[in-house]
Amino acid sequence: MSQREATSHPIERGNWSSVLGFTLAAIGSAIGLGNVWRFPYITGKYGGGAFVLVYIGCVLAVGIPIMLAEFLIGRKTQRNCVGAFQKLRPGSPWVVTGWLGVITGFVILSYYSVVGGWVLHYAFLSLKNSFTDRPPEEVSAMFSGLLGSPFLQIFWHTIFMLLTIIIVARGIYGGIERGNKIMMPALFLLLCGLLVYALQSDGAKAGLDFLLSPRWDQMSPTGVLEALGQAFFSLSLGMGAMITYGSYLRGEANLFRSSFYVAIGDTLIAILAGFVIFPLVFTFNLEPSAGPGLIFQTLPVAFSQLPAGGLVALAFFSLLTFAALTSAISLLEVVVAYFIDEKRWGRTKTAWLIGGIIFLCGIPSAVWGYFLGLMDQIATNYLLPIGALLIAIFTGWVLTHSERRSEFESGEIRALPYLSWSFLIRFVSPVAVAIIFIYKLGIF
Ligand code: PHE
Repeated sequence: MSQREATSHPIERGNWSSVLGFTLAAIGSAIGLGNVWRFPYITGKYGGGAFVLVYIGCVLAVGIPIMLAEFLIGRKTQRNCVGAFQKLRPGSPWVVTGWLGVITGFVILSYYSVVGGWVLHYAFLSLKNSFTDRPPEEVSAMFSGLLGSPFLQIFWHTIFMLLTIIIVARGIYGGIERGNKIMMPALFLLLCGLLVYALQSDGAKAGLDFLLSPRWDQMSPTGVLEALGQAFFSLSLGMGAMITYGSYLRGEANLFRSSFYVAIGDTLIAILAGFVIFPLVFTFNLEPSAGPGLIFQTLPVAFSQLPAGGLVALAFFSLLTFAALTSAISLLEVVVAYFIDEKRWGRTKTAWLIGGIIFLCGIPSAVWGYFLGLMDQIATNYLLPIGALLIAIFTGWVLTHSERRSEFESGEIRALPYLSWSFLIRFVSPVAVAIIFIYKLGIF
């Protein structure tokens, strides 16, 4: 904290202790429900293999360049996502991009916390050993039981939001950095263990076939937009989370490398989750396009049949809770950082107040599944792509070549990475996002 104390935002703002800490925190933000809950069910809905290929294309051509852009804007300005645009282009309308980010963070966290609550509920069920020795249909049906109970959903939504607020109130140092170092590798290892099991199950062949053979006839413009939205959601892009995290970084760091690590780690976990889920879906005769309940209906059935399945279930849902929390923290941090920087509010007060309001806004999602789906659609298919498009245009066309280059080169001095990124962020990313978006809206 000492570096920071001499500046105009003492203590409240904080700093990462190292580049590694920063990269791990960004990985923590990226890896979450987007990978383990959302990716498999969206992949199931849009036909498997073809979707996965389009998704990977989106991560490479659009995701990585925009992530790097967000990191650079954050580090250059040392500000929240609204302040960052204000500082770079004072008085210009570009500040709207920052506002959009704050609103998007607000919307996403409101329902993200409800789904985080589902995970907590399943962690609790595992603790009670509720899946062991139960017939598969009964275990699968537990999910509709949860959806049918507004009380249970609000209860777990409350607990999830409380945990998020407490961590954010404690600040960037105490809260966010530490847990990531253990939890993310542990989640990865557990998924690898589950993969070994899934690959030996009866549905392994059908599951792998579903994921690996592209059926292009099932891919539609909507599917492509979903893949793009999923890439933004999963990589935490398009709403300033990575600008905010970049703003807690000082000095030299090779951000090019960091964005690669984050994108690779995130995509690996998503694909791994897919490889665990789909063999199980086919083993237990479930529907690949079952929707948001997919992981909650498949994994517990597998856990009920595994030796020591109760323990595995507990480990899995606890780790997923951590992964979801490290993402939720970054969502709340976007909004909180704005009030700390711009309004000079204290961190604790802001975290409780804003977290409390977001909690209330999440209640409709907890009692009404349709509303949750609607918020998720609006956020991932509209707000995030629009935010990402604006960030790409701003970085590629509004910032000058020397502004981009000087920030990029603080920590990275070779020309090739800069030139390739510059090309992608100016031409490929904005054009790809714009085309997909316009096509989906049916304008041509
Ligand atoms: N990336 C997170 C996940 O996959 C969700 C998230 C989206 C976090 C946007 C921050 C910003 O779960």
